[in-house]
Parts: sequence; C-alpha cells; structure tokens
Amino acid sequence: MPPPPAEAFTPLPDTLARLARAFQVTRGLTRLCGGWLPGVPYWDAKLELGDQLWAHAQSAADLLRRLHELKESTAERQESAALDTLLREVASVRDGDDFLWGCHGVLLPRLQAQFAAWADQTDPVMDPLSRQLLQAAADRLGAHAAWYAAYRPAFSPGPLRRSPAWAAYVTALLDGIDFAGGAWRLPTPSVGRPAEWQEFACIATPRRDACFRTAWFNEVSRHVRDDFADRRRVVFYNHTQEMQFAESLGAILYETPEMPWAFHYDLARHCTDEIRHTRMGCTRLAQLGEDLRQYPMLLQNYSVRAKLEPIERFCLMTLVIEAGSFEKKRANVKEFGEQGDVISERYESYDIRDEMMHVNFGHTWVPIMLRVNRDPRSVNELIAHCRDILEDALKDERRAG
Ligand SMILES: [Fe+2]
Ligand SMILES: [Fe+2]
Repeated sequence: MPPPPAEAFTPLPDTLARLARAFQVTRGLTRLCGGWLPGVPYWDAKLELGDQLWAHAQSAADLLRRLHELKESTAERQESAALDTLLREVASVRDGDDFLWGCHGVLLPRLQAQFAAWADQTDPVMDPLSRQLLQAAADRLGAHAAWYAAYRPAFSPGPLRRSPAWAAYVTALLDGIDFAGGAWRLPTPSVGRPAEWQEFACIATPRRDACFRTAWFNEVSRHVRDDFADRRRVVFYNHTQEMQFAESLGAILYETPEMPWAFHYDLARHCTDEIRHTRMGCTRLAQLGEDLRQYPMLLQNYSVRAKLEPIERFCLMTLVIEAGSFEKKRANVKEFGEQGDVISERYESYDIRDEMMHVNFGHTWVPIMLRVNRDPRSVNELIAHCRDILEDALKDERRAG
C-alpha cells in the first residue's frame, strides 16, 4: 500500500498549536473538576471526579512533554482569553447538577470530537507520538462523558437535572470558538446566559447527598469505645471523611491560576490520593459490615480551611496536619499487626506511604508559593501561624461538641 500523502496532514506549526491548545484544555479541566469537587453533592460522583481530574492531569502532562520534545517551550505560558472564558462560564452555575450537565453533558463530548479530529489530522508517519497522545486524551474525555451519560447517583434519587437553557448557552459558547483552525477567538454566544447563574465563587460549605446526616464536629471519634473493633471502625470512618481533604485540595487547584503547571500536577495527584483514601475507608467499613449511610458526614474541616488563603490552606494541610499524622498512623499499623488484622494493616501501610509523599509536596511547594505570592514570611513563620489556626479550630470543635 502506498504511504498516505503527507499533504493530507497538518504542518508542524499547526500541530504544535493544537498540542498547546489541548494542553491548556486538559490543564483547565483538571482545575475545573477540582473547583467543583466540593459543590457536587453526590458521594459516588465525587469519587469519580477525583479520578477524572487525575486523568486530565495525565493527559496534560503527556501533551506538555511532547511539546517540549518538539522544542515548543512556550506552551505552558500561552494564554487564551476565550478558553478562560469558556471554562469560567462552565464553572459559573447554580449547583452540581448544572455543573455536571454543562461540563460532562455538553463540553466534554465536543472536546472529545475535537481532540479525535486533531489526532486524525496529525501525520502518522512523521508524528505518530502526538497522534497517539491526542487520541489518548480524546479517549479519556469520551470515557468521562460516557460515565455521566449513564450516571445515576447511588445515594440520591436520579436522574440529574439537565437544563435545556444551559445546554444552549454552553453550545453557543463552543460554537464561537474556532477549534478547527487550532486557534481560539473570543466566543460571541448567540443566546444569553441564564440570568440566575452567578459567577463561580469557591464553595464555602461542601455538599453531600441528602440521605446523609451532616455534622460540625467528629462525634464518632469522640465516642470511641475502649476496644479494638471500635477503634478500627473509627480509623476507617475517619478515612471516609478524607473527602474533605480532597475537596480542599480541589479548591486550591481552582484558586491558584498563578502557580506553575508542575504544582497543579502534584496537587491533582495529592487530590486523587485523598479520594483514594476516602474510597479505602468506605471499602474497609463495608468489609467490616458497616453502612456508610449510618455515619455523619463532617463539614467543619473543609469549611474552616475554605476561609483561608490557598497558601495557608496548603501549608496547614501538608506541613502541619499531614506532617503531624505519622505517630497515630504508625500506632494503628502496630495495633492492626498485633491483632492479626493483616488487611487493615495493609490499608494503613499504603496510607502512610502516600502521606510521606504529600508532606514532601508541602516541602517543595510552600516555599515557592511564598515567593509567587511575594509573601515575606519564612516557611517556619507560616507553619507557626498555621499551627495556631489548627489549635483555634480544635478549640472551636471541642466547644461545639
Ligand atoms: Fe490521606
Ligand atoms: Fe495526604
């Protein structure tokens, strides 16, 4: 068979422009899913979103690496007012139903088709690598759209609301963007934005399915009995509540547009790890015969942190809370081992290793965040300040209990 005519495929500058747009899109989706993680009320959808934002981050990392291989070093700093507008608009909705509908129901299928077209148009002989990466990113977008299309909440009645007015507006925004040329221009939507929609402001209080009772202090930990089975139950209940940790990290992803991509990549990893710890907690509780619906969903840790600047939030979480967690976790491993509970011991051992990496994220990024924010404090001064914040929050919680 003769080789395909090279003229049928995009020239190198166009391919570079498309890879750069695809990087910006997948990076934007990573941050968008993080920002809305606390606002989506459905527990099982949150677990999925935590995985999806990590998938977007992997697409973005692969695309940026390919751009660097092709000596395109400006991709990370390229800006697109149209793309920023599009993602901000998709974020600026009333609730989780509207977010999932606009993002997963309307935006992702369009992006999947666009990425797949870009893959097809990339030269299969000279640049199969870019072709494969664009197709892999398209496949991930398609998988996320398919998840939503089949989604029914496990803990809430479904199906989710799908507003025709919102779909029309997001579609008009998408129609205003020149995807085919590989360039963006400011969208000029032909239909108006629904009047009741507000500009996205980060979520102050995380949302939960209505079937769950919510609580503002950890009454389960407070009332643990002095026996192994009860201590173990509380350890894994507390892991289920790491959802709040993932949600705080997701909010930081959205609130730090000024930070470099490498930070967003590590933060996406951190966030998806905390989602995994939440899932580990849920799974172990179920293995122990416990029903998650009988337990309160805690809101206070996220809500206290939501009032802080991202730099204080991140320092508090990594260099104070996570750095201070090892003694307790090692005691849990020891007790699980002594009791012959090898499965619980294994869960907790994975958790400890993840937490070591998360503390290292803090050591790496807190000094850089201070510099990016032109914050004159030293890391140690910031840690001391965050310890005071934690102490005050614990006092408030003790009073509430
Ligand atoms: Fe964790
Ligand atoms: Fe962690």
